[in-house]
Amino acid sequence: MRFRSILICLLLIGSICSFSHAQRVRKSWPLKEDWRFSKGEQEEAYQIDFDDREWESVQVPHDWAIYGPFDESNDLQIVAVTQNGEKVATKKTGRTGGLPYMGVGWYRRAFEVPGFDPEKQRVKLIFDGAMSEAQVYVNGEKVGFWPYGYNSFYFDVTDFLHADGTKNQLAVRLENKPQSSRWYPGAGLYRNVHVLVTPKIHVPVWGTFVTTPYVSEEYASVNIKTELEHVSEGTDISIETSILDLSGKVVAKKKNVQRLNHGRPLEQFLTVDHPELWSPESPHLYVAKSVISIEGREIDEFTTRFGIRKIEFIADKGFFLNGQRRKFQGVNLHHDLGPLGAAVNRSAIKRQLQLMKDMGADAIRTSHNMPAPELVELCDEMGLMVMVESFDEWDVAKCKNGYHRFFDDWAEKDLVNMVRHYRNHPSVVMWSIGNEVPTQCSADGYQVAKFLQDICHREDPTRLVTAGMDQISCVLDNGFAAMIDVTGFNYRTHRYEEGYQKLPHSLVLGSETGSTVSSRGVYHFPVEKGAQVIHENQQSSAYGLEYCSWSNLPEDDFALADDFDWTLGQFVWTGFDYLGEPTPYDTDAWPNHSSMFGIVDLAGIPKDRYYLYKSVWKPEEETLHILPHWNWEGREGQKTPLFVYTNYPSAELFINGESQGKQTKHKEGTLQERYRLMWMDAIYEPGEVKVVAYDSLGKKAAEKILHTAGKPHHIELVPENKRIAVEGDELAFIRVQVVDKEGRVCPTDQRSLSFDVAGAGAFRAVANGDPGSLELFHEPQMKVFNGQLTLIVSAKEAGNIHIKATAKGLKNGETIMEAY
Ligand code: GAL
Repeated sequence: MRFRSILICLLLIGSICSFSHAQRVRKSWPLKEDWRFSKGEQEEAYQIDFDDREWESVQVPHDWAIYGPFDESNDLQIVAVTQNGEKVATKKTGRTGGLPYMGVGWYRRAFEVPGFDPEKQRVKLIFDGAMSEAQVYVNGEKVGFWPYGYNSFYFDVTDFLHADGTKNQLAVRLENKPQSSRWYPGAGLYRNVHVLVTPKIHVPVWGTFVTTPYVSEEYASVNIKTELEHVSEGTDISIETSILDLSGKVVAKKKNVQRLNHGRPLEQFLTVDHPELWSPESPHLYVAKSVISIEGREIDEFTTRFGIRKIEFIADKGFFLNGQRRKFQGVNLHHDLGPLGAAVNRSAIKRQLQLMKDMGADAIRTSHNMPAPELVELCDEMGLMVMVESFDEWDVAKCKNGYHRFFDDWAEKDLVNMVRHYRNHPSVVMWSIGNEVPTQCSADGYQVAKFLQDICHREDPTRLVTAGMDQISCVLDNGFAAMIDVTGFNYRTHRYEEGYQKLPHSLVLGSETGSTVSSRGVYHFPVEKGAQVIHENQQSSAYGLEYCSWSNLPEDDFALADDFDWTLGQFVWTGFDYLGEPTPYDTDAWPNHSSMFGIVDLAGIPKDRYYLYKSVWKPEEETLHILPHWNWEGREGQKTPLFVYTNYPSAELFINGESQGKQTKHKEGTLQERYRLMWMDAIYEPGEVKVVAYDSLGKKAAEKILHTAGKPHHIELVPENKRIAVEGDELAFIRVQVVDKEGRVCPTDQRSLSFDVAGAGAFRAVANGDPGSLELFHEPQMKVFNGQLTLIVSAKEAGNIHIKATAKGLKNGETIMEAY
């Protein structure tokens, strides 16, 4: 035994000794634990010896506002939303989620840099995003300021650190002004903060740029530009770069010596034979590992992950990835994670992306701001293309205290950080410089657009730039749309053709589409198509026929993508419901405070529309979905339309064995008839609804049955994942359902459940997807919304997590999950 441990020690020492100098110096770690937080101004809180012992202990990422309470008066905005055509100011309740995100908050934490040597090292603090107006202090001195809450930024803090290696005190002051947002922005250090230690001469943050100037199946040319900091002009630098595939195999290698001139980056070309190309269907990645030496001594080592793929926008023909035309099947995502608020959690983002992919989505627009790095990394790994967006306003205000206050001084810095941060990610296929910016209609708006687009082109000549435009008459007349590389129209589908004809690019992208509104599991009668429909219960109908005055139903966008080569596809508003913007219940309509645009609700439970998108976007996989539910006590004998969303062209419907006839999708009628099967005259009687689907040859292909559920009997817990890792704050998502004796969901049940999580896990949050629910996400009880909700559990240590749900009149639901 003793001999074995000595051997392990020797092996360990051996491998440590074989580490290069550079490897030993470059280190990075996140500052997650041991933060102190306090809401409110405290002028002395930046000082080293400030007493913060009474402050709350928190972990970062942290969102100070998500714990509520919800209140109508939180950031109540009395405004006219001009982009929605409003002329008179009204009370916009719930616009930013009704959560207390406004005000000042302070965070403090001590941190050490082990072995710190100010002569030989540089230390940086990297913020993935801080909401907002961040003022950063180290050891009582101000290090820097970064106003935009969504962007990543960093400061070199080497000269602020204690040279003797003792603990340093970090303090961050954040401030959110009221009326600074159109949705829930979150609050605080809601993304990760990292310490980065490098050798003095080093590759800076985002200091490499990998491009693939030539891509074919036979070979790809890979160009790598590497910057260096703190090195004198005229120095001869040797750089050895290896490209590895994800199994760790070296597929290309090159060593060059270059004299450093005028700060020009080191540049290398390598060739990868038979490259594995990146695409949503096969997201292959590579890693470029560069070792930099001066006079034979290793100085720094830097790793960049990238992908090999070719993107082209061809006039009249569309978008091509690796030579193959495809239409964007994209969704817009706001950054909040429902009940978790804006606080970044990798597994929660992964779950959202997986749900989108399973629906057939292949692209994400990070509306209307820079995303968390975790999202872009996951899109690289999982295979989703990304439009990284920057701003919701430029120099002209949308919100009284919005970004326009900073635009002149900060727009360039913000864009530079965004592009440099994400330009090596194969998933990123476009930059967006803005969304519906009021500057669209300024006479010189095109100049501002040019200023921003030029920055993107300068920092990344390989990608085109777009913007979400909604003032179509303005942008077609004033040169704004003609200036921007890729024409992005938000809604206004009836003007696509005009945009295509008039603009030089001869392509139109649906940068924002749909804005169909619905509440999961709520159905209104009679079933009618309508804009801005208001129902007494402040819920939109899940029949998926209600939209906004400026928007449309999913079929308009499907048809545009299907019928014209020059359309580029779409980004639906939105993949998930988000906090804030409870349209159409946004005007004096408290308690509504979260959106109804989502294809999936705030709890992450798909609405019926999910299956409509899936039936069109993923035709190779079977979709056979019946709506509404079949529990309509009191509607016996009344017309209760039944819809079926399916990838098959036709189906026959039976109610209690009686055929309701066969329907076939067709182009001759309404657009709905082209993409949905609808039995508008179905009469409700309790029992069984059966649908039999037929393929294009008329052969029976699939069958599905929907029953009227019986009396609520017990609670069922359906974990989405069976086990979760303790590392990395992985979360378990558990679907909780009130079911009858047979296990069928009771679709009208709204009772309150309580939760108990014991053993190796802890209760984290709960959400039911009801846009008007004021119950707190972080209390272990909540009402189900139409029979369902989602419980979120975290792992404390390895072992079994015991999860229990109880409710009056029902048998308990229990499950055991493993934490590892
Ligand atoms: C768009 C806007 C989005 C959202 C959406 C709601 O005009 O770009 O941010 O407000 O409308 O339909």
